[in-house]
Amino acid sequence: MARLEIILGDITRQDVDAIVNAANCSLLGGGGVDGAIHRAAGPELLAECRRLHGCETGKAKITGGYRLPARHVIHTPGPVWHGGGYGEEELLRSCYRSCLELASENGCETVDFPSISTGVYRFPLDKASRIAVGTILDYLEEHPEIRRVRMVCFDERTKAWYDRALEELT
Ligand code: APR
Repeated sequence: MARLEIILGDITRQDVDAIVNAANCSLLGGGGVDGAIHRAAGPELLAECRRLHGCETGKAKITGGYRLPARHVIHTPGPVWHGGGYGEEELLRSCYRSCLELASENGCETVDFPSISTGVYRFPLDKASRIAVGTILDYLEEHPEIRRVRMVCFDERTKAWYDRALEELT
């Protein structure tokens, strides 16, 4: 049974211990997957997020899942792509690692990720997919407590890049 899977789907519909939100530093919602998660979770999610007072890029904070099927939401602001010379790759790596560390600390055995930073934040998919898959695989090697991680891709083009990265890295 592979511990990292790539699927096509809507992350707000996944019944797992934690889904990850590609948030912004305010943690007060937005468009894209952030908007979809807040819409599906309901107003209690925003109320809890308000009490978190934001989050730094590359770091992560955890909340309840409220009306979502997922028990928790782990919020992480990804880096905006500015061409690659501003530490964007290391910040994206840090997003995935910080989320998995929080999942371990909170007993979350199943964790679903969206493709962080590859929408509005314009991070190139070829690079982002390799960073994501590589970071997740490295973490899973050291952390048997995480039973399964999935990349939940919203479209075929994104899924193709993650499938390719998984093939290259395993
Ligand atoms: N399920 C899974 N993936 C989704 C969903 C969904 N329901 N909706 C969108 N996505 C995908 C997008 O297609 C993209 O592949 O999530 C990926 C990340 O795109 P964005 O949501 O635009 O996130 P990001 O690029 O990290 O930009 C974050 O956008 O929404 C705002 O508040 C957010 O300011 C922050 C910025």
